[in-house]
Amino acid sequence: MELDGIDPLQVPVHVGCVMDGNGRWARKRGLPRSEGHDAGEEALFDVVEGALELGIGWFTVYAFSTENWKRPPEEVRYLLGVNQSIITRRLGELHERGVRVRFAGRRDWRVPKRLLRSMDEALERTEANKAMTLTIAFNYGGRAEIVDAVRGLVAEGIRPEKVNEKAIRSHLYLPDMPDPDLVIRTSGEFRISNFLLWELAYSELVFTDVLWPDFRRENLFEAVREFQSRDRRFGGLE
Ligand code: FPP
Repeated sequence: MELDGIDPLQVPVHVGCVMDGNGRWARKRGLPRSEGHDAGEEALFDVVEGALELGIGWFTVYAFSTENWKRPPEEVRYLLGVNQSIITRRLGELHERGVRVRFAGRRDWRVPKRLLRSMDEALERTEANKAMTLTIAFNYGGRAEIVDAVRGLVAEGIRPEKVNEKAIRSHLYLPDMPDPDLVIRTSGEFRISNFLLWELAYSELVFTDVLWPDFRRENLFEAVREFQSRDRRFGGLE
């Protein structure tokens, strides 16, 4: 069976995912990029179900970066629309499965009001859910997050000697979110692209050639098996 080979006691607590390759998937099929993003939505929901099956408690996906505003306006519009639709059309489904939806990113910069309202509704409606926390990194940049944390500290008038890792962490967008144990990037690119820079200091990274729209729960399980074969030392010695 699919879960073969996965140790249920050593499932990563938090998995992050850079969903890359929608555009290339569409191009290979002679389709518009928008169809790649639509297919990406299907992939996302299959993977969320797989994460629930495995008992992964925290799942974070990179849905739109602070740098993605540089894409052509029609692509930006489409991506905002995909996110809006995931949050509105799919919320009932997520809620039924006990998923708590949260967002990481800059709220007060460029995000359309209507989308912010939908995000707030999703947050409120699902906040008591316990099966899994799905964090959508939207208008998110790892560097922006660190800048915003430092701004928060400075605004509080913190003294230099009080600046430490704990102080910075407590000013991240979601201070209670555990660091990701495993981060997956699809589509054969070997980079982080500004995803969770502070949080992934000791994450295990898994890269796969599979394009995001083709990624399914089995691919997640495979990444988890790879994760379980790694030797994590956190700078110490076993
Ligand atoms: C980082 O690569 C990837 C992202 C910020 C994810 C962007 C997400 C999508 C395009 C689609 C999301 C899918 C759904 C279903 C909402 P990058 O392309 O920003 O960085 P790079 O230029 O370094 O590759």
